[in-house]
Amino acid sequence: MKECVTKSPACTYVIFGATGNLSRVKLMPALYHLEQAQRLHPATRILAVGRRKWDQPQWVEEVRQWVAEKARGGLDEGLFQRFAARLHYFEGDITEPTMYQRMASHLHEHPDLPANIAFYLAIRPAEFGVVTDQLHAAQLLDEEQGWRRVVVEKPFGYDLESAQVLQHRLARTLREEQIYRIDHYLGKGTVQNVLVFRFANLLMEPLWNRNYIDHVQITHAESLGVGSRAAFYDGAGALRDMIQSHLLQLLALVAMEPPVSMEAEALRDEKVKVLKSVRPIPQSAVHAHAFRAQYRAGRIAGEEAVGYLQEENVPSDSVTETYAALKLYIDNWRWRGVPFYLRTGKRMAERQSLISICFRHPPLQLFRGTQIERMRQNWILLGIQPQESMRIEMTVKEPGLEMRTRQTSLEAGLRGEDEAEIDAYEELLLDVIDGDRSLFLRYDEVDSAWRVVDPVLRLWTTERDFIHTYPAGSWGPKESSRLFEKEHQGWRHGLDPKYCQER
Ligand code: BG6
Repeated sequence: MKECVTKSPACTYVIFGATGNLSRVKLMPALYHLEQAQRLHPATRILAVGRRKWDQPQWVEEVRQWVAEKARGGLDEGLFQRFAARLHYFEGDITEPTMYQRMASHLHEHPDLPANIAFYLAIRPAEFGVVTDQLHAAQLLDEEQGWRRVVVEKPFGYDLESAQVLQHRLARTLREEQIYRIDHYLGKGTVQNVLVFRFANLLMEPLWNRNYIDHVQITHAESLGVGSRAAFYDGAGALRDMIQSHLLQLLALVAMEPPVSMEAEALRDEKVKVLKSVRPIPQSAVHAHAFRAQYRAGRIAGEEAVGYLQEENVPSDSVTETYAALKLYIDNWRWRGVPFYLRTGKRMAERQSLISICFRHPPLQLFRGTQIERMRQNWILLGIQPQESMRIEMTVKEPGLEMRTRQTSLEAGLRGEDEAEIDAYEELLLDVIDGDRSLFLRYDEVDSAWRVVDPVLRLWTTERDFIHTYPAGSWGPKESSRLFEKEHQGWRHGLDPKYCQER
């Protein structure tokens, strides 16, 4: 967390793909909010690279509209004027080598553009290597005058092999310390809270292991469909899009050992150890560990929703999964034998991201026979979104003469009504300027995460005849419950216990 306005150094943020969707919905609004929070150095400038023939006033007008859609509390005109003074538009085609020479001259001729430069690659992954090679050729990565950092969006590769190829290419021109691989989940306050919850409270640590925990569930459900992203999504699918990156990061935070410090390398060392301890899924056991499905037509919040195959740009015979679930085991002392169930889906009943920790039954069911209902287990639920909350469920005695028990819960919202919801990109964009890599991925994390999902991807690629379906607006296919190893386990859909799925 940053304390003081002036600490961050001045830098030039060069944004490749500045006229694209990510820039519109995330980057420009985040930079505007950093302006509002007075976290940008007065000299910091934003150089937007785009192919469109826009002049400066046109660019500023575009950004004004983008920011107005997202600005917390509405657009503040005076503030926007201050922000607009930082904006520069640079027309150019990233596949054109002369563009980089022009950019080098432009930077040279404009001393008001700070010497420290962060290059943000908000472009197609296939172009990451093209851009870094060209930046290098134009000597734009030389650090004689100031630092150079490159921010790489996800996905980092398409599978293990392509990630290795990409890494090899980037490493030809950049040192690891210069590469900032984004996983925007790490920028979410509630995700960082998993670390605080675990390591700033002594209460949980003795319980946080195989002796007390029955299983862990990590759910990311979206009510939105694939929208306008089918061209990308159909070639990726839910396992690559969400589980390989965001959900495995959540798993690492839940399962990691306490780091020696909160410094970037210490944190990442511990996350990598967890990912490396995930038991590899043998090809012959993929069906016991992984489940995929695709949404068909249904209803969400009373509205008709089309099926995936009817979405624009989706081939009519696509078997790309919009829902994926995995059962993983972490083979280390703390977690041996505890299943971790990960699941994600588009067009589900609700938008809900949740970490659910289910504790074991007490060793003796002392109150057996004194009540109709079976004893429930304790749960700890960490709501990531939309509710930022924490809930602990316990069993208590019902008032009255009978010895009956019921569930009660301790529940806490993690954000007060007067506390603003900070977008993950605000934190991450600022961390790049500050040179703080703790919320970015080191290459060995990415590599290890690909190793976890690769056996599943390889099998699914060959099985092209059939995919399960689920109606849009549901909690996914019932058949995915087959992943659970014990009869009493079932998906936990939300914070409220009524969301425990019957099996
Ligand atoms: C992105 C995925 O990384 O994360 C999208 O590519 C997904 O498919 C998104 O919708 C979810 O992020 P959030 O922050 O909305 O939960």
